[in-house]
Amino acid sequence: MAAIAVSLATSLTSAVVPSSLTSFVFNKLNSAPCLRITFSVSRFSSYRGGGKLMAHSLVRATLGLTQPANIDVPKIALSAKEIDVAEWKGDILAVGVTEKDMTKDDSKRFENSLLKNLDAKLGGHLSEASSEEDFTGKPGQSLVLRVPGHGAKRIGLVGLGKSATNAYAFRNFGEAIAAAAKNAQASNVGIVLASTESTSNESKLNIASAIASGTVLGTYEDNRYKSDSKKPVLKSVDILGFGTGPELDKKLKYAEDVSSAVIFGKELVNSPANVLTPAVLAEEATKIASTYSDVFSATILNAEQCKELKMGSYLGVAAASDNPPHFIHLCYKPPSGPIKAKLALVGKGLTFDSGGYNIKTGPGCSIELMKFDMGGSAAVLGAAKAIGQVKPPGVEVHFIVAACENMISGTGMRPGDIVTASNGKTIEVNNTDAEGRLTLADALIYACNQGAEKIIDLATLTGACVVALGPSIAGVFTPSDELANEVFSAAEASGEKLWRMPLEESYWESMKSGVADMVNTGGRQGGAITAALFLKQFVDEKVQWMHIDIAGPVWNEKKRTATGFGIQTLVEWVRQHSS
Ligand code: BES
Ligand code: MN
Ligand code: ZN
Repeated sequence: MAAIAVSLATSLTSAVVPSSLTSFVFNKLNSAPCLRITFSVSRFSSYRGGGKLMAHSLVRATLGLTQPANIDVPKIALSAKEIDVAEWKGDILAVGVTEKDMTKDDSKRFENSLLKNLDAKLGGHLSEASSEEDFTGKPGQSLVLRVPGHGAKRIGLVGLGKSATNAYAFRNFGEAIAAAAKNAQASNVGIVLASTESTSNESKLNIASAIASGTVLGTYEDNRYKSDSKKPVLKSVDILGFGTGPELDKKLKYAEDVSSAVIFGKELVNSPANVLTPAVLAEEATKIASTYSDVFSATILNAEQCKELKMGSYLGVAAASDNPPHFIHLCYKPPSGPIKAKLALVGKGLTFDSGGYNIKTGPGCSIELMKFDMGGSAAVLGAAKAIGQVKPPGVEVHFIVAACENMISGTGMRPGDIVTASNGKTIEVNNTDAEGRLTLADALIYACNQGAEKIIDLATLTGACVVALGPSIAGVFTPSDELANEVFSAAEASGEKLWRMPLEESYWESMKSGVADMVNTGGRQGGAITAALFLKQFVDEKVQWMHIDIAGPVWNEKKRTATGFGIQTLVEWVRQHSS
């Protein structure tokens, strides 16, 4: 038996930026009358990350006077136990059942042996209630019964559908259990599947880990910006019938590490743009480097330094904002041993996208949601946090974000301006709202210059991708079948939905300019594809590259919250390269 504590650090509780970033070529001074800037001294006046020493002092932007509350994410202890489910004691015993598990014989008794035994202990109550309430095991269905006088206070049946075979289904199962635990104010739950006979040991590990992360993520609520909130009560989760031992413990610890990183990523995306400025995003990145200083080094470039590197495409986007750009680069190196693969993860980091002079107007433009336009960077920094905890050997990983804000002002980029990227290519900006690709251009060139052999970028890049694939599937673009195979197998394990899209070269025609090397926007048709073709111009041909458009899945419209999409797949992909 093993008990693993899930400790989830709350982020964004202090908004700090380095003092070296107070002068900007491309920005006006912070002189807007409504923006109040206060100065105080950082708790970390300096930090060491992989040998680099950086000086900091604090600038706390207080537009709207909002600061996120410092709420600790409660720990949930995950344990694998091997005991008879009928003997388990606690608040809810949750049983995962498929529609097949729910079949009953002529005398209305369960055919499944686990359900049959439980039902016998409960005097037939379970079969009776499931018939009366028409519980058939459909996904999302659940039935919770109070069973006084037994070890478990409640028994819950949770539907898995026709057959649950993938990580996605088991994560949803975990989330449904978390919801049931919330309803019942349960502080501990036991989880078991009605049938696991046909499951191999390897898939048992993966299933247990998917269920565990589902329960942890389903329990979590982001209440940092609410003046009044209840703490979740769930404290412990017992995973029953999956065996015990070091392999399973390791897998549950991995699920715990990745889940805490997903929560971190969600918090980054949920934070509004008046709190999460490019400076604050950079500070969050340096906090990761200082927390895991044995494996990370951090480099944060200010506008001046980006100008030296000739990042005109990125700086053009940043030019209108009073919140200066911060180019973020974290480098992970394993604690010891040789490096077999050099990888880079690049994330779009627009802390707000107003559209610029091509301002987002009209119904459905979702300008009020454009704080989520840094979802790619949240995925990348979330992955960094997980990798800092997991410390995979054999891989070097670069985490790169060209963070800025797309605003409107007299210093801003105009439609029709020509900007020059750091590889010398010129771009006619025929639409200032196609800004993500402009920032990614310089970030991808920078990633290639780090010697990365494989690069994945994630970006909330186009509304067109949401039109094509809907709100929960990300679009994948890559010329490399090998990289596609790797990432699709990682996504299979993580339960995140990806769909490969074509990089149709003939569509490049619409990206030609009369005066520059290219325009930044093609026509309305195939908008996700032309965006990907644009990015391809800035990647070395010898590098394996993939672009993932996460404009749809970054946000859960129904739950009005960020999803943390991408983190689990990225971490799994890095782990696959680890030796
Ligand atoms: N951040 C948006 C993409 C977006 C739109 C994400 C809606 C999620 C929901 C991006 O910067 C953008 O504005 N793209 C434009 C491109 C167009 C001008 C070619 C778009 O999709 O409309
Ligand atoms: Mn835009
Ligand atoms: Zn954008």
